[in-house]
Amino acid sequence: MNMDSDSSHSGNVPVSLKWIGQGDGHLVLLDQTRLPGQVEWLECRTVDSVIRAIQNLSVRGAPLIGIAGAYGLVVAAGEAMVKKLSHDATKTHLSMQAGKLAAARPTAVNLAWAVGRTLAVVESISKNAESRIFGESLLAEALAIHAEDRRLCESIGQHGAALLPEGDILTHCNTGSLATGGDGTALCVITTAWAQGRRFEVYADETRPLFQGARLTAWELVHRGIPVTVLVDSAAASLLKSGRIGSVIVGADRITASGDVANKIGTYGLAILAKAHGVPFFVAAPSSTFDLATREGSEIQIEQRHAEEVTVPMGIRVAPQGAKTFNPAFDVTPADLIHGIITEHGLICPVTRETILRGLESSRRPK
Ligand code: MRU
Repeated sequence: MNMDSDSSHSGNVPVSLKWIGQGDGHLVLLDQTRLPGQVEWLECRTVDSVIRAIQNLSVRGAPLIGIAGAYGLVVAAGEAMVKKLSHDATKTHLSMQAGKLAAARPTAVNLAWAVGRTLAVVESISKNAESRIFGESLLAEALAIHAEDRRLCESIGQHGAALLPEGDILTHCNTGSLATGGDGTALCVITTAWAQGRRFEVYADETRPLFQGARLTAWELVHRGIPVTVLVDSAAASLLKSGRIGSVIVGADRITASGDVANKIGTYGLAILAKAHGVPFFVAAPSSTFDLATREGSEIQIEQRHAEEVTVPMGIRVAPQGAKTFNPAFDVTPADLIHGIITEHGLICPVTRETILRGLESSRRPK
């Protein structure tokens, strides 16, 4: 499917996701599995197709799968309308589909958070309301979550750019506009600093096994005219040893009350390497990525993915049939390896239970 050329963020990076129409409309996703070779969009008109897109990583990145999940629930309201379900049956349908959407990927807390927040709107819909009201109300909430995320990205970018140390920057996975509803978290810190006139080289780990760094981060940076060097994940130690890296900055999928951070597999190793070489290690994430109900990193459910992602990456067999694999999608970096967490409110440093609570206080104050 083609989309208009105006559908882009700054730097001509195409939008990663868009709702088309009203409450009975549908979701359009940039199919990230096809990048960087092809720019193609997927139309999602059923909840199952949204779940498939989340699970096969056509849409990915913690904030963005949250937004996709919220729109997925609007799709569920459309399904209820087509089936002419009663008020109560619509509520049951929405709550079942919300459960399925929230469970599509277990590690990023943003997904369950955004789906839960969108579902909560149903409680305010009166029994006498026409069926279209479900779609309209859920769409208003999904659009609000999407717009908020855009603003959170901007604030994270501003706060982060102001404190980014001198030197080149090493990043992992993709945390840009392909992972969020705006211009990104960690990557937005980098692009904001660049837009403010800072000059540096960005080193992007290729991020095995699905190459989000090589395929997506490098693609975004090339589009924005920011110099990027892609390295294999195992070259990070030598790069840090070289002394040219001033900071390492990554995103997050879930941050516990104690500040342990689940993020793309390889992040933990990078944090250990950064510590060993005296390079500050930053995490950038919105408050929606904090899960204060989870105390420690060991309590986080880590998604395990298909063996073929390791044995047949990009369709090329690199390990023999019969070999077993270890393929966790994420790992957990303990708080004591993290110099600071950049949120939309500013920097949390050092990373402790107390500083996290204080740092998030303003997001919990009634607006
Ligand atoms: O499996 P993915 O590609 O969804 O993993 C994404 C990451 O780990 C990102 O670093 C994280 O979601 C933060 S995105 C702003």
